[in-house]
Amino acid sequence: MNKESIFTTEEQIIKNAEQVIKDDSYRNNPLFSQFSDLLQSYQKIFKQTKMLVKLSDKQQARLNEMNKTLETENYQLMLELGQSFESFVRALSIAVDAKHPLTAGHSDRVTEYSICLGKSIGLSEDELELLKYAALLHDIGKIGVPDAVLTKKGRFTDAERIVMNQHAVWTYRILNDINLPQAFEEVPHIASCHHEKLDGTGYPNELRGKKIHFFSRILAVSDVFDALTSLRDYRKYDGDKEFGFDPMSMNMAFSILKKESGLHFDPEVISTILKERSSFEDLWQQLAANHIERQKVDRSVASVNGFV
Ligand SMILES: [Fe+2]
Repeated sequence: MNKESIFTTEEQIIKNAEQVIKDDSYRNNPLFSQFSDLLQSYQKIFKQTKMLVKLSDKQQARLNEMNKTLETENYQLMLELGQSFESFVRALSIAVDAKHPLTAGHSDRVTEYSICLGKSIGLSEDELELLKYAALLHDIGKIGVPDAVLTKKGRFTDAERIVMNQHAVWTYRILNDINLPQAFEEVPHIASCHHEKLDGTGYPNELRGKKIHFFSRILAVSDVFDALTSLRDYRKYDGDKEFGFDPMSMNMAFSILKKESGLHFDPEVISTILKERSSFEDLWQQLAANHIERQKVDRSVASVNGFV
């Protein structure tokens, strides 16, 4: 391929991505329309439940004897609503990860690692819930990234990198479109800042230090820990040093995290993960080890059949 054709291709990639964003055509993506349908059902149930809660409040004043029954019923309904909200968010995050087999389970693992960090830092139950939903949905913007870029083997060109980095902006836009319960209002902001770096060299907004939400700083560490310790289509890097596609050793992964403390990562979050290293290694065993073995088998079968 000559230089001119590479340039045209890269220009085209950026142009296409800009057009998709301008037209909001991500809404035509089947994943997004499924998401919208699920959301509409959720909002309907939420409205109905709010009405029932109001009704029960009125009856509580007039009909004390009915109070307990209604309270129990409402509590049950809210519980079911909470469960259906969680299962729909989980289904959505699985669907996004499934766009590429190698990232299957990524959002779930990032969520588990983030909760482990959050508990160790001493977050409240409500804060852990907020962190959980931001973690589950942090990569939802990948819905808008073309498969050719998302599943590319090897390093991105500059143009592809621009398109890929847009997923953080899309995460914000998609989540901001949702009428989330008040307790989760910060989810779009927290989720979309998971690639910001403490020294201001991250994306999408090059935020620096405490301008990055603390929960986004937790997500950043969990996200990179999972990327380093999972199988990937691209080689892993530590500065100029290039590594393979396979998961890094725990020693290497933890030493990279430590080295980036104060630059990419928040020192408090890094000191927590170093303190909790054995819990993280156990979690990795539970969440990632089997998954990686299966991926290796899939990959070798595919290469025997000539698919890789
Ligand atoms: Fe991401």
